[in-house]
Amino acid sequence: MILVAGSANLDFVVRAARVPAAGETVLGHTLRTYPGGKGANQAVACARAGGASTHMLLALGQDAYALALEASLREAGVQLHIVRVPELATGTAFVCVADNADNAITVAPGANDALAAQHFPTLGAVSHLLMQLETPLQTVAAYARMARAQATRVVLNAAPAQVLDAQLLALVDLLIVNQSELTSMAGGTPGSSIAEQLDRVAVPAVVVTLGPRGCCARIGSEYLVQSAFPVSAVDTTGAGDTFCGVLVAALDQGNDMAHALRRASAAAALACTRAGAQTGVPEHQEVNQMLQDAGAESPQSQAVLRRYCGLPQ
Ligand code: RIB
Repeated sequence: MILVAGSANLDFVVRAARVPAAGETVLGHTLRTYPGGKGANQAVACARAGGASTHMLLALGQDAYALALEASLREAGVQLHIVRVPELATGTAFVCVADNADNAITVAPGANDALAAQHFPTLGAVSHLLMQLETPLQTVAAYARMARAQATRVVLNAAPAQVLDAQLLALVDLLIVNQSELTSMAGGTPGSSIAEQLDRVAVPAVVVTLGPRGCCARIGSEYLVQSAFPVSAVDTTGAGDTFCGVLVAALDQGNDMAHALRRASAAAALACTRAGAQTGVPEHQEVNQMLQDAGAESPQSQAVLRRYCGLPQ
């Protein structure tokens, strides 16, 4: 059983030719809303990955936005533990998606900020607790402590990037970050390779996602790479969340890290081909099909990625 504890936001998404620079206004196209929030997106990805019983602890206001978020999570098969916060609005996110599929996001946390230590649910044997950083940091730390006490593996997607203290990192079994989050966490010595940065993070296992290049993992002193699956991206919103959810679901099913990285990468690639965060998360049959069609990863692409990460050939 997987417990995702984290945020849920209604995403207000405008497509535009490009993401505006500071102080700039760009004219976009239509406005659409999609269910989102890093926590809720990851819970949907876990549930759609198949086989993993997925629970989510989340805080919502008492408004129409909350209804849309609950419906999306329930439809995906996520079992909900809702903290209702009538005095706060449900979390919202303002997303600009550029024609090249990149995005820029601003989050108004609202009810997500009310998630607190006392809300941690009493569940049976939870194999993995999956968290992000869109809820208060002291709550994330409290949940990590409670999970550790119950021998639950703590997985932290350290997004959006924040400074994390050593006590919190000491409670994390698996950390998932993107390249800029890794650099800020590893102290960013100019010129240091991905492998050196992974080495500097004091967590037993760390995975860094590298966008269209793929991903790299350090488990203890062993390194693994997985190239990205090439796709025509239309919207990268939620692709990282899809990666996290599918990775944890695969580990929960007893798969090794290499297998989990491959499934997560295929699912994240598929997510980039569709609009919206949760609407973009693929079903496990689609991931199976992509893996079957792609066949084994070529030694050449492995070599290119190992070189990029600063790993020996
Ligand atoms: O990671 C994508 C998500 O970040 C969006 O769904 C948005 O809600 C923000 O939480």
